[in-house]
Amino acid sequence: MIRFLFWILIAAISVTVGCKSESDDVRQATVGATDMVHQQLNWRERYLELGRETYESACAECHDEGKDGSPTMGDRDSWANRSPLWSAVLIEHAKSGYLGMPAKGGQPELSDNAVQAAGEYMLSVTFPELPFD
Ligand code: HEC
Repeated sequence: MIRFLFWILIAAISVTVGCKSESDDVRQATVGATDMVHQQLNWRERYLELGRETYESACAECHDEGKDGSPTMGDRDSWANRSPLWSAVLIEHAKSGYLGMPAKGGQPELSDNAVQAAGEYMLSVTFPELPFD
């Protein structure tokens, strides 16, 4: 009988240990997924920060006030008649130039990535409800 109880005890302990490590695994996985989401958000924030810096140094002089008919930062109406293909085309135009818009805002040393970030920054400030990813 004692032997029997001993085995019951061993079985109970192993079930308990098993459950514990399983819930640890679940917890670990949850922590991992949360970290990934945070990393994604940090990445997006850093990218838009690059966009803001580029915007301030290379785009604001025209786009803050709508100089030469440029679509204005934060003024949704001024963007209304732009390409219906939207950000892909608009940002391509920012890189390569379009009518009164000089390529890269007239600063050819800027990387495509920085100009892209600046364009996404402008659009995300003007249309905060839209996802730009
Ligand atoms: C010297 C003034 C000037 C600077 C600097 C400038 N832009 Fe522009 N931008 C314009 C003008 C003018 C237009 C409108 C072009 C048109 O439709 O005639 C324009 C249009 C745009 C458009 C819309 C393009 C389209 O297809 O309608 C985007 C996006 C844009 N600019 C992004 C940028 C970014 C990003 C920068 C900085 C890297 C920048 N601009 C710097 C003058 C400027």
